[in-house]
Amino acid sequence: MRSIRVFAPATIANVGPGFDIFGLALHEPGDEVVATLSQEPGVRIRAITGDGGKLPLSAHNNTAGVAVIKFLEHISATQGVELTIHKHMPLGSGLGSSAASSVAAVVAANELFGSPLQRRELLAFTMEGERIACGAAHADNVAPSLLGGFVLIRSYDPLDVVQIPVPDFLHCVVIHPHIEVRTEDARKILRRELSLRDAISQWGNTAGLIAGLMLQDPGLIGRSLTDAIIEPQRSLLIPGFDRVKKAAAAAGALGSSISGSGPSVFALTTQLQTAKDCGDAMQKAFQTVGLKSDMFVSAVNNYGPRILPAE
Ligand code: HSE
Repeated sequence: MRSIRVFAPATIANVGPGFDIFGLALHEPGDEVVATLSQEPGVRIRAITGDGGKLPLSAHNNTAGVAVIKFLEHISATQGVELTIHKHMPLGSGLGSSAASSVAAVVAANELFGSPLQRRELLAFTMEGERIACGAAHADNVAPSLLGGFVLIRSYDPLDVVQIPVPDFLHCVVIHPHIEVRTEDARKILRRELSLRDAISQWGNTAGLIAGLMLQDPGLIGRSLTDAIIEPQRSLLIPGFDRVKKAAAAAGALGSSISGSGPSVFALTTQLQTAKDCGDAMQKAFQTVGLKSDMFVSAVNNYGPRILPAE
């Protein structure tokens, strides 16, 4: 039976001030999914590797499974799909692990059926995967993983997704401390109301970050990586957060914040070497509170998913 294997990248969601509206794709890490055409309609998950047995094999409860079910319904498919999911990044890390799996799965399924839909048209299905993962169909991980680059979700209703050009100099480092924060929990703790003062600060910084990227102005990018609303609340879930942030600044980062819903912390820099230096300093800061961590250094991935040679 015909199979398609797809890699979809990890992402940094929120990117400082843009809670639920900004995200960017990394080159590594990412998840791989093999989709195989089946004469039996519907979706079955053959196997999941790299998850330590934590993820559900029932397609209706699995983010990648749900995304492909919605896709097959949309194209009125009479055949089905079997999925094998290879997780290459930690769960509950803030790197968009669930998003990468559902994006890889839907891109592979679309390819399997002869690409009836454009990449952009797959977004709604991958968002349904996020709803299963954390209760909210947010797009700031799935959209950059699917489309590549830096993505602004200008509106959810109607969905309006804008790709923002990113300067070539921009590099990212993400440090993943070895603790787990479930997105669902990190969303539940958020206050529902905010002050006008914080709102003004936040919309200044969201606009500033977009302007900084488009003007290729590192100073403006750095000044705009300020989150007055979400970071102060969620950083309480990340031991050593303030030290890690200070370490990144001292090592030359433009700015830093929580990656997605955490616990990973990212920094942006103008050079690859500075990203590595910041990463080393941030890992040392986590060590001072007894946390081991992993480091991922990457430029922005402007391509998104890749179709890989069959296994
Ligand atoms: N915008 C989402 C959140 C991203 O911060 O909850 C989750 O990775």
